Amino acid sequence: MNILFVAAECAPWSKTGGLGDVAGALPKALARRGHRVMVVVPMYGDYPEAENTGVRKRYKVDGQDIEVSYYHAYIDGVDFVFLECSLFRHCQHNIYGGDRREILKRMILFCKAAVEVPWHVPCGGACYGDGNLVFIANDWHTALLPVYLKAYYRDHGVMKYARSVLVVHNIAHQGRGPVENFFHVDLPEQYLDLFKLYDPVGGDHFNIFAAGLKTADRVVTVSHGYAWELKTSEGGWGLHEIINHNDWKFRGIVNGIDTNDWNPKLDVYLQSDGYTNYSLKTLKTGKPKCKAALQKELSLPLGAKVPVIAFIGRLDHQKGVDIIGDAMPWIASQDVQLIMLGSGRPDLEDMLRRFQGQYHDKVRGWVGFSVKMAHRITAGADILLMPSRFEPCGLNQLYAMTYGTVPVVHAVGGLRDTVIQFDPHKETGHGWTFDRAEPGKLTNALGNCLNTYWNHESSWEGLQMRGMTQDLSWDNAAKIYEEVLVAAKYQW
Ligand code: GLC
Repeated sequence: MNILFVAAECAPWSKTGGLGDVAGALPKALARRGHRVMVVVPMYGDYPEAENTGVRKRYKVDGQDIEVSYYHAYIDGVDFVFLECSLFRHCQHNIYGGDRREILKRMILFCKAAVEVPWHVPCGGACYGDGNLVFIANDWHTALLPVYLKAYYRDHGVMKYARSVLVVHNIAHQGRGPVENFFHVDLPEQYLDLFKLYDPVGGDHFNIFAAGLKTADRVVTVSHGYAWELKTSEGGWGLHEIINHNDWKFRGIVNGIDTNDWNPKLDVYLQSDGYTNYSLKTLKTGKPKCKAALQKELSLPLGAKVPVIAFIGRLDHQKGVDIIGDAMPWIASQDVQLIMLGSGRPDLEDMLRRFQGQYHDKVRGWVGFSVKMAHRITAGADILLMPSRFEPCGLNQLYAMTYGTVPVVHAVGGLRDTVIQFDPHKETGHGWTFDRAEPGKLTNALGNCLNTYWNHESSWEGLQMRGMTQDLSWDNAAKIYEEVLVAAKYQW
């Protein structure tokens, strides 16, 4: 099959969250299964590995003619195509930044240009044929693509057999706006109803995700738990009725992880400053070494027996870091160390700095985003906290388990799918889960976890071992994606 994966971000070039990781890894897993795979992503900066193909096209956006240049790199069996223009470059440091009108303009341009990539960019000397073509769009940013594919091409007998799959990574962002936005997206008037949604608070509004969900041939979301939540009025954020209505084409597939990048045996960030690579076999010597290196790097008191608890994530309402904040008096009263890494809401960034000042002998709050520190904390910590209020899949808990770091999570979305609660009688499970995103629930689960850490060494080793020996690679997920792509393709 010819697969075109279209996303607003892609690691390692651009990444604000899990979507970037998925775009960097899933296409490679699909290519390993023998498909021809292209990733199309905006070019936000200078990417040395990308070559200018010389192809340039102009697209009309908001009455303006904008020129796009197509760059290309072939890496690990995948054609990466980067769309270059000043609109994308301008938001290099904040790729979802700008006012709503600007963001909308960028996404319109991106989708209009991306849908034509298979014609304009000959990869490996040949264009991607339309007959076997399936687009995979991701989140609201590219939810216009299935609509453009239908309205501009399929409705006119062009790319008649091309199909589209839309992946929901996060329903909280939908590309909403006033109904008049419809006039900016350049679609025939009969398409208006696809975008129009009524909601009790805002009344009639324009909603790009709604149109994409209705138009795509298949819809995927990134875990089974989240697939279920999206159908409820609390979890669907106004789109649950559309999702229920389209249940026949909807499926949950749990994300995998890039096992070259996130692998304690190979991790390049563990090769200096006192850190070390380790495996299940060398866990007992390697992980304590990483822990000591981490304590040293962050100038925390050295102590092999003091459990190091970590939080890594965007500082926003979704990730529930404020719940850790509410639980801080209890956490700080324990003989533990807590390391928090993230950036986001200014008040939450201040909270991290405040806690570091207040509990300087046990808390570190690293404000900012550092890939290197994310890897080092994952390796050096004993416990990872994820009190997310909602979590479509979550990748940090998967990284943690791979590194023998035990997760304590709110049982929601993908966290519920991937972290099985520890059962001390049967010695099964990977970590601790709690059923409400509240400080009391968190401290209760964390307390049980600490008790096991301190008093039941062999249970702890069992938890680490079960976490580290799971197959969390993309290969399993890629197989299921393939089924969805095939189902989309044979639907006439
Ligand atoms: C979004 C979700 C996260 C998921 C990621 C990749 O960032 O919030 O839960 O893991 O997308 O699908």
